[in-house]
Amino acid sequence: MGFRRCCQATQAVRERCKELILSDDTLRELQRRFLENIQRGLGKDTNASALVKCFITYVQDLPTGEESGKFLALDLGGTNFRVLLIEISKDHFEMRSKIFAIPQHIMLGSGERLFDHIADCLYKFSKEENLLGETLPLGFTFSFPLIQKSLTTGILKCWTKGFNCSGVVGQDVVQLLLDAIERRGDLKISVMAILNDSTGTLMSCAWLNRNCRIGLIVGTGSNACYIEKQKNAELFDGEDLGSGNVLINTEWGAFGDDGALDFIRTSYDEEIDKNSVNPGKQKHEKMISGMYMGELARLVLERFTKEGLLFGGKGSDALFTRESFYTKYVSEIESDRPGSYTNCTEILEELGIKQATEQDYINVRFICECVSRRAAHLVSAAVAALLNKMGEKKVTIGIDGSVYRYHPHFHNLMMEKISHLVDPGIVFDLMLSEDGSGRGAALVAAVACAHPR
Ligand code: BGC
Repeated sequence: MGFRRCCQATQAVRERCKELILSDDTLRELQRRFLENIQRGLGKDTNASALVKCFITYVQDLPTGEESGKFLALDLGGTNFRVLLIEISKDHFEMRSKIFAIPQHIMLGSGERLFDHIADCLYKFSKEENLLGETLPLGFTFSFPLIQKSLTTGILKCWTKGFNCSGVVGQDVVQLLLDAIERRGDLKISVMAILNDSTGTLMSCAWLNRNCRIGLIVGTGSNACYIEKQKNAELFDGEDLGSGNVLINTEWGAFGDDGALDFIRTSYDEEIDKNSVNPGKQKHEKMISGMYMGELARLVLERFTKEGLLFGGKGSDALFTRESFYTKYVSEIESDRPGSYTNCTEILEELGIKQATEQDYINVRFICECVSRRAAHLVSAAVAALLNKMGEKKVTIGIDGSVYRYHPHFHNLMMEKISHLVDPGIVFDLMLSEDGSGRGAALVAAVACAHPR
């Protein structure tokens, strides 16, 4: 055995990565700014100009565990579009689902086309599952900013995450779904609820754990939902069904769209924003979520290579091509055991880089760590702000999304950072949600069936 070689990134790389590292003081400042945004979203007089809209979901009750029935669910807005059939009874849960692709021409085409496609997938699934004779209650997880007027009305405020279908913004998406179903004329469903994936995640975790008070998504996009007192949600105009609470879909992705994050944004963030389908929008989300993380890392790699800090200054066409460095690469590279670079070597070879040295591997890993840590720390600051605002002594946070699920250290990074930032006396834990969007949709539909309005 020889000496273990030094496994630190080079001085120059560490120096150039400093702008990606957020100190606790910076995170506290972010917490303060984020809370201000939440207050603006909740306030009657300030909501119109607020960026973090804090949408009222009209979900007031967490599941009791007594819910039962058979439900259909649609899940649009994550990595995949899915149709699900869910049966719930006390302590029992059964689910069958099918994934359908949404090709890019549909993601960027007309709204009518999108909803016809959704109805078509629903028909195919119902046929395969022999459901065509039944009228099943349906929960629709639609993971975009929605202005809700009731549990079954949701007006799209804007598209995010690469979707941009025409004729949908400003429309009630439940109605658009019903119209598409009517155009077909061969399907019967009863839409019981429309909800966000963060709401679904909160509901599905609360079904297992009554302390769950925040639902979080760190996947293709990022967002959080939490339980607020009806009296603080000044725009809430529903009837109190007894809990005095209402779930708020924060839509925190829009935090920073007024420049509040400019003091930490880098030229890489600007580049990501400039090349996105929604420039100037979702600046917080673009620093966190899976849709952008790989490309952020790639931009750093590209710059450093061109500056001669990596690979002897020689890159490859693939490395210099947009979107060629997938977010899963970040997770894979950070999954290599310390001192081993198996995944890193493979990924760089796939990108046509064959001349990498061990020091390059160390540097590449360090760059990935800086990008993913920054994301975990940004999420942690916003979560800590919500925990401190709620002031509950013991809170479970339900989380779903590909970044949280597959990144090897995201959970630990968040646990550590939230505990630094949270007020003394608050105990919290992070619970992976098992399929929040699907299960949550069925649970919201079930709770709605139990409390018909
Ligand atoms: C959407 C949210 C969603 C989040 C996670 C964001 O882009 O605006 O509604 O919850 O992605 O899917």
